[in-house]
Amino acid sequence: MLIRTPFPHEPQPSEITPRSVYLNRRSALAGLGLAAASPLALAQGGAPGGGKLAKLPGARSALAGAMVLDKPTAYADAASYNNFYEFGTDKSDPAERAHTLKTRPWTVVVEGECAKPGRYDIDALLKLSAQEERIYRLRCVEGWSMVIPWVGYSLSELIKRAEPTGKAKFVEFTTLADRAQMPGLRSGVLDWPYVEALRMDEAMHPLALLTFGMYGEVLPNQNGAPVRIVLPWKYGFKSAKSIVKIRFVEKQPRSSWEQSAPQEYGFYSNVNPNVPHPRWSQATERRIGEDGLFAKKRPTLMFNGYEAQVGQLYAGMDLKRFY
Ligand code: MTE
Repeated sequence: MLIRTPFPHEPQPSEITPRSVYLNRRSALAGLGLAAASPLALAQGGAPGGGKLAKLPGARSALAGAMVLDKPTAYADAASYNNFYEFGTDKSDPAERAHTLKTRPWTVVVEGECAKPGRYDIDALLKLSAQEERIYRLRCVEGWSMVIPWVGYSLSELIKRAEPTGKAKFVEFTTLADRAQMPGLRSGVLDWPYVEALRMDEAMHPLALLTFGMYGEVLPNQNGAPVRIVLPWKYGFKSAKSIVKIRFVEKQPRSSWEQSAPQEYGFYSNVNPNVPHPRWSQATERRIGEDGLFAKKRPTLMFNGYEAQVGQLYAGMDLKRFY
């Protein structure tokens, strides 16, 4: 994500793959003796993780659209190039600083317009439904994308258990905001806590993943441990990390980015190559790690390639207005 800047002549973020990422990836991969996983490696048992975190395997999902064929991003890249402003605004900050995040004990509160609110201990939440592995693309509004084998289960599994009432039109996600653990909270870059929200039918869509792991292991802190949302058809900022509260509400909530820059970051934030961000095009993207500094960017797909699955949710909506 980006904060509005007064320097419009600067190169767009989507045009730069930081040298550190490029070099880091090479040295990390060389050190591990790994290359990004091939489809064959995937078929044989998944993309390799970092090897340092607890295992969290998931059965291959049978859901349509849940397993894209693109080559997964190398773990070293996915875990070192992150947006998690609670730990700083540089892409390398979360990996360097998020070790201060305590992921146990951890409770997720489910409340608001529902018949069965609850407080879920993270380990109980993890076991609430069968873990699946799903290989999703994640595209950031800044112009980069990754392909990650996530592990979790459909958010709808949890929502159904809460029995939302007829008044529940939206689901709001609130993430941890603890100054003792998160050095980035000292900055006023956003109003903390980080809040995101979905329309109820979006949240109930089977592709919306309540995510506990990636690459067969629990999430690294910098990727949103111990639990986050992943919404493959929306820009990355909708996928809130380190969630502590899920609330059913009647009125459309204001998400953190909408609050801080409403002209740039709308509520829907569906990946849409035809609707440019006010300061740059969204028509192309750079795949982190895979594309070299001077490689051609790849075209961005409508709804990030998940149009067949989610297009119906937005039938009849003016997607320029509801960006
Ligand atoms: N969640 C919280 N709590 N804080 C954040 O700053 N950044 C968002 C999203 N979730 C963010 C967050 C943005 S802008 C993106 S692109 C994705 O997380 C990045 O997820 P990744 O680091 O796993 O790639």
